[in-house]
Amino acid sequence: MDLTPEERGMLEGKFGKAAKKSMEILTALGEIFEAENMVDVISVQIAGVSYANLGEAGLEFLSEMAEDGKVRVLTTLNPAGMDRENWEVLGIDKEFAKNQNRAIDAFAKMGIITTCSCTPYLIGNTPHFGQHLAWAESSAVCYANSVIGARTNREGGPSALAAAITGKTPRYGYHLEENRHSEVLIEVNAQIIGTDQFGVLGKIIGDKLVELGKKIPFITGISSATVEELKSFCASVATYGGTALFHMETITPEYDKYPRPDKISFRITQDDLNKTRSELIDEDLEIDFVSIGCPHASIHEIANIAHLLKGKRVMKEFWITTARPTKRIADEAGYSKIIENAGAKFAADTCCVVAPIKGRFKGIMVDSAKACYYGRAKNKFKVKIGSIEQCIEEATK
Ligand code: F3S
Repeated sequence: MDLTPEERGMLEGKFGKAAKKSMEILTALGEIFEAENMVDVISVQIAGVSYANLGEAGLEFLSEMAEDGKVRVLTTLNPAGMDRENWEVLGIDKEFAKNQNRAIDAFAKMGIITTCSCTPYLIGNTPHFGQHLAWAESSAVCYANSVIGARTNREGGPSALAAAITGKTPRYGYHLEENRHSEVLIEVNAQIIGTDQFGVLGKIIGDKLVELGKKIPFITGISSATVEELKSFCASVATYGGTALFHMETITPEYDKYPRPDKISFRITQDDLNKTRSELIDEDLEIDFVSIGCPHASIHEIANIAHLLKGKRVMKEFWITTARPTKRIADEAGYSKIIENAGAKFAADTCCVVAPIKGRFKGIMVDSAKACYYGRAKNKFKVKIGSIEQCIEEATK
């Protein structure tokens, strides 16, 4: 790779051990993907933060990097295995909490902002069009590339940390214009409203892309979409299709930048949506857990939940998963009080997928197609998808 004198200095150890190790990781990655050089990134988001994922081996790597490593760019974390303030109330055991905090402390020592969220773009790690990033969480990567028009590959834990310490990432994949063209034209002939419906749409498109062996869809027929609907769609299409970039006519910023395929590959009808929705509802379901906030809930969603829960009482375990800064805004606005008075709980910094809750519940109801996938695959729950209103109805009956 063609390295600048500074990058070469990092590789030779002139900027310390962590920078050397980081540049070794990045150049190895660059060689594999035939990157010609590095690109400066303006921000990093690191995944694999839960102690359940890291384990002792991961913690050892972090501690080693934290000996002299300091991040050069704004860096935040993906959700951890627990709410850092409220873990006991949420049933997390002491040993896990101790180890999770050891991991977060190592990140903090490197200058990383220890806000743990999969929606960094809602809480200040907010890039703009055309900027280069090194993000790791699949839903956030998809959102950054598609909705914001920033440029990032999906990084692994070590490569994201290496990018944070050096401020660089190899220039390949979605950092290059020629890799951002759509490959499949999809027409939606149905009205899509709500985070749950956009999640269902993401599953249909994701599944189809896997079948076709394609990655970047161009989607027509969606007349409007909110930030919350798009974050749900991103999480779902990334989960089911491994998609890191899509273009949506009149909605995403690069939709008319590149040539699009002229032939429609497939159409999605209301029947397709109904059928796929029913695939996200298990039979013989007993719901004892309701969770909203996958990806992490926005303040707009929390305001809506407070409005819907006002004066009611939840009868089941009910989590709202969100970023800590969003929770603080909810506290100040009085939403948290209304929600907690109804018996629901905030699970900030974490979520119903990364928290170590496997087997603790029988059935989960969510408004997220991604949470359905991992609820089944990782936590062995039965699942049901519904709108936020239906989730609240279920929780309060
Ligand atoms: Fe975020 Fe957890 Fe969903 S990390 S996207 S809330 S599975």
